[in-house]
Amino acid sequence: MNDLIIQNIGQLLLPKATDKPLKGKELDELNIVENGTVVINDGKIVYAGSYTDEYEAQSVIDGYGKVVSPSLIDAHTHLVFGGSREHEMALKRQGADYLEILEGGGGILSTVEATRQASEEELFNQAAKNLTTMIQHGVLAVESKSGYGLNHENELKQLRVSRRLADRFNLDMKHTFLGPHAVPKEAESNEAFLQQMIDLLPEMKDYADFADIFCETGVFSVEESKRYMQAAKEQGFKVKIHADEIDPLGGLGLAIDEGAITGDHLVASSEEDKAKLSDSDTIAVLLPGTTFYLGKEDYADARGMLDNNGAIAIATDFNPGSCVTNNLQLVMSIASLKLKLSANEVWNAVTVNAAKAMDIDGGTLNEGDKANLVLWDAPNHEYILYHYGVNHAEKVIHHGQVRVDNHLEI
Ligand code: NIG
Ligand code: FE
Repeated sequence: MNDLIIQNIGQLLLPKATDKPLKGKELDELNIVENGTVVINDGKIVYAGSYTDEYEAQSVIDGYGKVVSPSLIDAHTHLVFGGSREHEMALKRQGADYLEILEGGGGILSTVEATRQASEEELFNQAAKNLTTMIQHGVLAVESKSGYGLNHENELKQLRVSRRLADRFNLDMKHTFLGPHAVPKEAESNEAFLQQMIDLLPEMKDYADFADIFCETGVFSVEESKRYMQAAKEQGFKVKIHADEIDPLGGLGLAIDEGAITGDHLVASSEEDKAKLSDSDTIAVLLPGTTFYLGKEDYADARGMLDNNGAIAIATDFNPGSCVTNNLQLVMSIASLKLKLSANEVWNAVTVNAAKAMDIDGGTLNEGDKANLVLWDAPNHEYILYHYGVNHAEKVIHHGQVRVDNHLEI
């Protein structure tokens, strides 16, 4: 006897099992089974495919008129931080831009101040609340960056909180050391601070899976980013980079040359760098919620990247300054509207390819996979992108158990 069957599913989304990220045209290929069945036992998928009544289970969920997909994966977040920055809304209304606020000692640096002052318990509670919202919206795997400590004690504090969250919530999480996220006020120079962060890498290896850096005008140059990435790789880290978010410095080219697992943002990346994606497995992690929140006209050239046979993933970039939403469904809608992605491309970019961007197993529902999935109260997968800004997740199933039930009896 199995534990659970979901029967008569309107649309069952089955991303392709793959060792490598899906690239180019492959992103548009998604197996959508109408009238599907999913069978779960012992936290694992026993069967996922077209209708069958061959299996028996303790519980049955009716999926008629609904969508079932693998649970979502958020492969780029700054989940652990102190305080909030709603006061920046007024500055933004008056026309101040993101880098100007940072230059004036606000922006990331004001969150650094608040994060340093917060106790580990306060950081944990604030992040736990935000993580709960993410789970309620169908996310069961999360990458979480440090980068608001900018010194030994506080970077470690953030990473410890991140690891405690993974334990407490029993989630697939990966933790990223983003020491070079900004240059703190007390630093003698960019160079000296970068060296301090490089010196922390061996110790951070016990706490973090990836090393990341913010390569941007007024923060770290391509040369500095290269030095950091090479030092991190020597310590056994896989590397990531915040690249070409605002200015076209060439961070994507660097990510590809250094074999980074991901290059993230890539709004201003050059044609030359985008062309290099074709021969590379570096995943372009696109964060259109950030472009929206920063009020920019131009979004990352997702179509150009796919035409160049690149691999893309979509994530929130949830953080208190440049993308203050932890609703990945909303970001999926923005991706479809502003990055001009098809529904199939968006769903692959937040499941199977997002798993690759986090270096985890996930994003598929094949026999033997973890039973992490979502029952969506929507007639088809495009509807979820179309009816934007609200939560369509009806049930979130984690290791085969219904962990969230948003259904309201009326
Ligand atoms: O990915 N760009 C750098 N880091 C974050 C923003 C962090 C902040 O503003 O607090 C980002 O956009
Ligand atoms: Fe980010």
